[in-house]
Amino acid sequence: MGKLEKKVVFITGGNSGIGLASCLAAAREGATVVVADLASVNHEPVLKQLKDLGAEASFVPIDVSDSASVKKAIETTVEKYGRLDVALNNAGIGAPYSSIHEMDEKVWDRVIAINLTGQFYCVKYELQQFVKQGYGVIVNLASLAGLVAEPGLVPYTASKHGVLGITKNIAVQYGHQNIRANAICPYYIDTPLLKDLNANVRDKWIERTPMKRLGKAEEVAQAFIFFASDDSSYCNGSILAIDGGVLAG
Ligand SMILES: NC(=O)c1ccc[n+]([C@@H]2O[C@H](COP(=O)([O-])OP(=O)(O)OC[C@H]3O[C@@H](n4cnc5c(N)ncnc54)[C@H](O)[C@@H]3O)[C@@H](O)[C@H]2O)c1
Repeated sequence: MGKLEKKVVFITGGNSGIGLASCLAAAREGATVVVADLASVNHEPVLKQLKDLGAEASFVPIDVSDSASVKKAIETTVEKYGRLDVALNNAGIGAPYSSIHEMDEKVWDRVIAINLTGQFYCVKYELQQFVKQGYGVIVNLASLAGLVAEPGLVPYTASKHGVLGITKNIAVQYGHQNIRANAICPYYIDTPLLKDLNANVRDKWIERTPMKRLGKAEEVAQAFIFFASDDSSYCNGSILAIDGGVLAG
């Protein structure tokens, strides 16, 4: 029996990278998987992979930076499956490197709108359902940049520090209602998010990592399964770095 047997699992940004690996890992653990991603993505190949694993799966369009869209996606999920057990708030974007005094303010606004305000909208509507049900599990995708500064990435760093703040607030405010929230902080993971990366920067990151490689989306997905399942039943407000040892140095 899987660790998420028959659980209804909602994953934002589920069509690519860490979100996709988490959808597949949840399906292998017996979950019903709701892939929530931008309406513009081609979600059919992902749904096929999930169905090939024998999972009940569906796609809901969502733009996490739009509160009405988030509310609708969660309502659609609950209407279809009758409840929501686990949410992985994973949708997010990177940003071009820039020093703070030269930062394009539009870049700041966009990163905060998706990575931080988007997380707030997601947890707001997930919690409305969880409070009604009397239980629920939230897993938030932050970043190692939620724990330490990444020079040149101030909106990203600020947004991910904010995600940890949201996670801790949920933990202390809703723990007594059988609702728990935890966060995952990966260092660089080999996903389409890094597709425009300059090879020298990539080499620099690998050099900085004691394990001398980038992480894999599947390695982050396993942390998600831990936090989503009863294996972590007493974890609430926990923050897990997945970084090949970077933080230890
Ligand atoms: N890849 C890394 O090195 C890394 C490291 C630390 C943290 N993270 C975080 O992990 C999460 C997933 O990153 P990834 O590497 O898998 O990226 P990715 O680009 O492969 O996937 C991101 C997904 O989010 C979706 N998305 C983007 N904007 C959205 C929006 N407004 N509404 C809904 N969906 C939207 C995209 O369509 C895509 O499917 C992000 O929050 C990212 O910040 C990634």
